[in-house]
Amino acid sequence: MEVIIKSNYDEICQEAARIILEEWQKKRNLVLGLATGATPLGVYEKIIELHQKGEIDFREVATFSLDEYLGLEEDHPQSFAFYMEENLFKHINIRKDNIFRLEGRPTDIEAHCREYEEKIKKRGGIDVQILGIGRNGHIGFNEPGSSLSSRTRVKTLVEETVKDNARFFKSEEEVPRFCLTMGIGTVMEAKMIILLASGKNKNDAIFKSVEGPVTASIPASVLQHHPRVKILVDEEAGSLLSRRGYYKWVFKNKDRVKDYLK
Ligand code: GLP
Repeated sequence: MEVIIKSNYDEICQEAARIILEEWQKKRNLVLGLATGATPLGVYEKIIELHQKGEIDFREVATFSLDEYLGLEEDHPQSFAFYMEENLFKHINIRKDNIFRLEGRPTDIEAHCREYEEKIKKRGGIDVQILGIGRNGHIGFNEPGSSLSSRTRVKTLVEETVKDNARFFKSEEEVPRFCLTMGIGTVMEAKMIILLASGKNKNDAIFKSVEGPVTASIPASVLQHHPRVKILVDEEAGSLLSRRGYYKWVFKNKDRVKDYLK
C-alpha cells in the first residue's frame, strides 16, 4: 500500500486528480470507477478544472459507478446518477454511452448486477477506482461482514451508515435501507485503487484498514492485498497511523531510487 499523507483536504484531492491525469496520459480510453459521498467532490472539481484548461479530455473515457441506493429515481438529488451528473458529467465532454451505472430501480436485481459485471469485463476492467471510506471501514456500500470476494449485489445498510448519510437527506427516515454495490471482489479487480479520507472522524477506519489485520469486519482492510493501491489521507484522517513518519519519508524520497540505476 502506498500511504500518502497530505496537510489538508485540498492537497489530497489535488494529488488524486494528478494521478488520474497521469493514468489518462498513458491510456486515453481510461476506465474510471467513481464513488459518491462528500470526500471525492474535491477530486471532481480538480478534474473539471483540468478539463477546462484543456489538459484532460473525456471523449474516450468510460466510467462505472460504485453503488446506488435502491428505490431512488435517477433524478433524485441523492441518487448516484444525479450526484455524478451535477458534480462531474455535465461539466466535461464524456459521452453518454460511456457512462455505466447501477440503477436504483432495476427490473431484475440479479440480472442487472450480473450484466453490470459483464459490462466492466467487456471494457477491459476498471483502470482506476476511486473510493471513499465509511467510518466503519466500508467501501462502496460493502458493510462490515461483507464477503471479501463478493460481487455486485444488493446490500442492506447498517444503522451507522444510515445515520451518517442522513445529512444528505431531509430526514433519517428518507435514507433508503437497501442499495446495490460493486462487490469487494469486483473492486479488487481494478488495476489501481485510490482511496481518499479526510477528517478526524475517519482516523480509526484508516488506522484499522492500513495497519490492522485484514478482516471482513473492516472491509477496506482487504486493500492490503491489492498490488497497486494509494491511500490518500489528510493529517487528521491519518493521525492514528503509527508509521506516519515512514510514509511521509517514502513519498518525499521515492524518486531517489533512480540514483541507484546503472
Ligand atoms: C457512502 C458511499 C461510500 C462513501 C461513504 C463515505 O456510504 N457509499 O462510497 O465512501 O459514504 O462518504 P463521505 O465521503 O461522505 O464520508
